[in-house]
Amino acid sequence: MKSAQRARTAVLISGSGTNLQAIIDATAAGELPIDLCAVVSDQPAAFGLERARRADIPTITVDYRDHPDRSAAEAGLGDTLAELDPDIVVLAGFMRILPDDIVEHFRGRMLNVHPSLLPKFRGLHTFARVLEAGDAWHGSTVHFVVPELDSGPSIIQYRIAVRSDDDEASLKDRVQAGEYVIYPRAIGWLATGRVELKHDAAWLDGERLGTPVLVDESD
Ligand code: GAR
Repeated sequence: MKSAQRARTAVLISGSGTNLQAIIDATAAGELPIDLCAVVSDQPAAFGLERARRADIPTITVDYRDHPDRSAAEAGLGDTLAELDPDIVVLAGFMRILPDDIVEHFRGRMLNVHPSLLPKFRGLHTFARVLEAGDAWHGSTVHFVVPELDSGPSIIQYRIAVRSDDDEASLKDRVQAGEYVIYPRAIGWLATGRVELKHDAAWLDGERLGTPVLVDESD
């Protein structure tokens, strides 16, 4: 992505779309040099579609139940993305594993936000799992997407200290508040070419990130 261009960006969602809203708001405020070309959902009832409509962003639903099997649905999603031809694909609570061909096509151009301090707690139910583990810290990570689940090079993390009175809901609230900060920031870095995926690592401003940029709740 070159800094003079606004990157055509497609956002994939499955649910409420609060991260999508943060991206819409940052774009509207002139803080993100992207054009939101479409919001794509695998769930027809996802509230994020309503958020997109309110912001005049085209919406597309690829309902997996309308297809005979998963690979047919994935082919439908692949066709949709091929037609949109975005520069960047942002996964914002998209709760499906993408097929390798889609991931490879957008290698270095697809980001995900995952509610844990990766590489800890890949997969689902991270808030319950961190409480069960008794960890002192939790958070969220923005990372490049590679075929292996929740495993691509991390760019930025938001970290919170787990409190003795935290439950899943309070952790989720505090972690998501941080996602609304780190996700637009990482998308902006990608859109302006500041962050890149090179040699299987994330690079920021020409420097290989040994560890992701860390933003603390207390900052
Ligand atoms: C986000 O908190 C994100 O971290 C999580 O889904 C939520 C979506 O919320 N993503 C994953 O769990 C991906 N493995 P939103 O729809 O309100 O943005």
